[in-house]
Amino acid sequence: MENIVEVLVFAMVAFVSFLLWRVLYSCWVLPIRAYRKLVVNGFSGPPPSFPLGNIVDMKKTKKKTESCLSSSSPLTVSNDIHSSVFPYFAQWQKDHGKVFMYWLGTEPFVYIADPEFLKKISAGVMGKSWGKPNVFKNDRKPMFGDGLVMVEGDDWVRHRHVITPAFSPSNLKAMSSMMVDTTRSMLDRWTDLINNGKPEIEIEREIVSTAGEIIAKTSFGMNYANGRMVFKKLRAMQETLFKSNRYVGVPFGKYMCLGQNLEAEKLGKEIDALLLSIIIDRKRSMAENGGCQEQQNLLGVLLAENHVDGSKGKKLSTRELVDECKTFFFGGHETTALAITWSLLLLAMHPMWQHELREEIKQVIGDGEIDATMVARLKKMGWVMNEVLRLYPTAPNVQRQVRGDIRVDQDSIIPDGTNIWIDVVAMHHDREFWGEDVNEFKPERFKDDLHGGCQNKMGYLPFGFGGRMCVGRNLSAMEYKIVLSMILTRFSFSLSPNYTHLPSVMLSLRPMQGLPLIMKPL
Ligand code: HEM
Repeated sequence: MENIVEVLVFAMVAFVSFLLWRVLYSCWVLPIRAYRKLVVNGFSGPPPSFPLGNIVDMKKTKKKTESCLSSSSPLTVSNDIHSSVFPYFAQWQKDHGKVFMYWLGTEPFVYIADPEFLKKISAGVMGKSWGKPNVFKNDRKPMFGDGLVMVEGDDWVRHRHVITPAFSPSNLKAMSSMMVDTTRSMLDRWTDLINNGKPEIEIEREIVSTAGEIIAKTSFGMNYANGRMVFKKLRAMQETLFKSNRYVGVPFGKYMCLGQNLEAEKLGKEIDALLLSIIIDRKRSMAENGGCQEQQNLLGVLLAENHVDGSKGKKLSTRELVDECKTFFFGGHETTALAITWSLLLLAMHPMWQHELREEIKQVIGDGEIDATMVARLKKMGWVMNEVLRLYPTAPNVQRQVRGDIRVDQDSIIPDGTNIWIDVVAMHHDREFWGEDVNEFKPERFKDDLHGGCQNKMGYLPFGFGGRMCVGRNLSAMEYKIVLSMILTRFSFSLSPNYTHLPSVMLSLRPMQGLPLIMKPL
């Protein structure tokens, strides 16, 4: 009997020691090894502490900047936003240059705001060979799951292959009339508000909700009630994941904010269940129609593509379809809605450009209704979109994780497993590449140049780069032009004195206190 107890105690001690060793190895030994490798390869940066890395500094700098900004004059609108959006990176850039290493907990990141460096390291890496940071994949699982934004390798190739045709010109064309109808309802509501003596409208909320409705209809053919439900839950999840003081990258950081993480997981499961029921319904109706499906929306196209492609290796599983739907739902509305919102801010401050665009709309569309065939002819509106996404990139950063060492030059590599954080806001506001007028709103810089005259083609990345560039960019350009031209045709607008300029990141770049505008019917 005594022997059995001894053996059990010994086994327990061995097991606990093994667990402790595993924890110590992954939280202490591996990060130290990664640190040394980065130093040997010439990277330096703000000194990290264990186990929070540089998180404490980041939080402190952010808090200080926020309190300075909220006490400054509400109507000072400057487009020079980098030091308020990413104050810690702006600070570290001064000390360590445009490429340096920093740590989120025990996760090493190489920060890049130098387009030339980015060009050098990305030249030899194909889309499928880039990873996405595991630390974000785990943290954002309830939001994106294994959707296109997060998958890697052969899975990414398979997903992208099935999804790309959903954004073909003919499919986009079929979605334009739904966009027009939904936008018209929003504008009618604005007219009612104005007629009732309320010309000041909270534009950001209006546009984000209309874009949500557009994506619910165009992606899923969803009714308004279901669409609103997914939208509400996604929004709540976003606030839980990105607004709160969490400790992403810190060992066991998940348990430091357990309540928030459990809430995000619960919301994720509820959204999954809703989307799953929509997919099953749609599959059933396809089966009843012998595999045919009206392909007016993205889900219809995805299911048909999945069906036609037949061969098992190319298909998406139902689980993967749910994740893609979530990705579309989120990625598909917020970035575009915020691009329209920032455009309305800049146009409110530059009435001359409102006039220019109205003239163009008159020439291209006349008194009729906009449709998909006219969108490409709205050239000046295209320059405005590019310039707005330069000054206020609604996707303010791009991330990668290195899978296999990447050679920088003869003496230096970025070691396997290193995360990469590309600071798009910094690159879009870099005087060295854009010139002295970098912070001015000048859409004409895009007149004859897709890169707006930037000295380095990798310096302008509103939709990312390489094979992983945004798959929805044509859809978003169409929606942008349809919504904006309908607004400009019916209203002129100016900035409300109640506006406070606080661009801030909650995954996307948004005006943190909304955008109140004074609207006037034309
Ligand atoms: C103004 C609007 C938009 C902006 C600024 C934007 C920006 C971006 C950026 C920066 C990336 C990352 C690219 C990279 O990692 O190199 C991306 C990827 C992606 N976007 Fe967008 N996006 C917009 C609209 C949309 C829309 C409307 C959809 C879908 C309906 C969409 C779906 C996606 C997907 C699925 C990916 C992942 C692509 C991949 O990794 O292969 N986006 N987007």
